Amino acid sequence: MQKLLIIGGTRFIGQNLVAALLPLQEWDITLFNRGLTKPGLFPNVKRLRGDRYTEDIKILNQEHWDYIIDLSCYFPGSIDLISQHLKKKPKRYIYLSSISSYQVQGGTMQSEDLFLKPCTEDQKTDTSDYSYGNRMAECDRLLEKWPGDYIILRPSIVYGAQDYTDRFYYWLYQIKTRSEVLIPDDGQRVLALTYVQDLVQILIESLELKDHRKTYNVISHPSISIRQIVEEAGRQLGRSPDLISGPPDFLLAHQIDGKDLPLWIRGDYYTFSDAKMKADYQSTFSGLAENMTATLAYYDGLGWPAPICGMSVEKQDHLIGKLGKQDVE
Ligand SMILES: NC(=O)c1ccc[n+]([C@@H]2O[C@H](COP(=O)([O-])OP(=O)(O)OC[C@H]3O[C@@H](n4cnc5c(N)ncnc54)[C@H](OP(=O)(O)O)[C@@H]3O)[C@@H](O)[C@H]2O)c1
Repeated sequence: MQKLLIIGGTRFIGQNLVAALLPLQEWDITLFNRGLTKPGLFPNVKRLRGDRYTEDIKILNQEHWDYIIDLSCYFPGSIDLISQHLKKKPKRYIYLSSISSYQVQGGTMQSEDLFLKPCTEDQKTDTSDYSYGNRMAECDRLLEKWPGDYIILRPSIVYGAQDYTDRFYYWLYQIKTRSEVLIPDDGQRVLALTYVQDLVQILIESLELKDHRKTYNVISHPSISIRQIVEEAGRQLGRSPDLISGPPDFLLAHQIDGKDLPLWIRGDYYTFSDAKMKADYQSTFSGLAENMTATLAYYDGLGWPAPICGMSVEKQDHLIGKLGKQDVE
């Protein structure tokens, strides 16, 4: 069996990946992480404990890894550390990056040819969300100089079971629980999304592709709107709350942004091409309806807790009330 090291593996994408790999019984899997996130998960999988940003990383030197899947890198210094402390380079380093690496300046259906964000010395170690894309871009640049074979995968916002951000779930919860739902700009703006099981398929297929050193956008829905998401959720839940459109100027005047209304991006530039991935990979994706069915079943199992992101019920009611008054005036 080939030895596969997964750096991370216990939160969202990693948990789904390991759960999909285990029944295949094709890989001798070891997880490297700090043991903080879901420590009881996958009790029969081998583990190495340590913090990837410290000298703990030397523990990786104990064995030779045929393949490495890196799911938890947020700082470029860690790629350097790993490179220094590996006994021998793996056959392939599969690195999970993000479309946040791109310097998007307009246009639509962005391809892998787009420029990456710059990263200053300060940004390399900055811990704020603002420098996330810059740091991811720097990690990508380091990987592109990796002396062995690599694949860089850039998903968009990922949704599905175990998603701890609730950005997609926010909308399902609104449809499930409310009679009126505030949607930005009539829900018409489009963005790219990635379904976690599609990403898992691509990660697994990346272990088997012939020689690479390539980078891919991993996109399930290159251009999808909030309206499409809420309409599909409503269809499957048998619910049709009134969708109340908040025009962008109104929302901005009330300091509402994508943190209050998740997945709202002002413009259609956050759409990403899946053409290169489709040309090189065999995996077939099931589409929104099937993904929605599985995702709704997952939240049924959780009992529909209030989402951790997005605006409060009170704030939403207040804004819907103001919009109603505007109509009357
Ligand atoms: N979610 C999205 O929408 C999205 C979109 C694009 C790209 N991505 C990329 O996906 C990756 C994260 O996905 P995920 O959270 O779902 O992965 P995951 O592998 O399921 O979870 C993160 C893992 O990293 C480990 N970890 C965190 N800090 C660590 C450290 N300092 N040293 C060693 N291990 C550490 C965690 O375990 P411990 O806490 O126990 O250490 C956990 O096992 C990131 O690279 C992110 O940029 C995500």
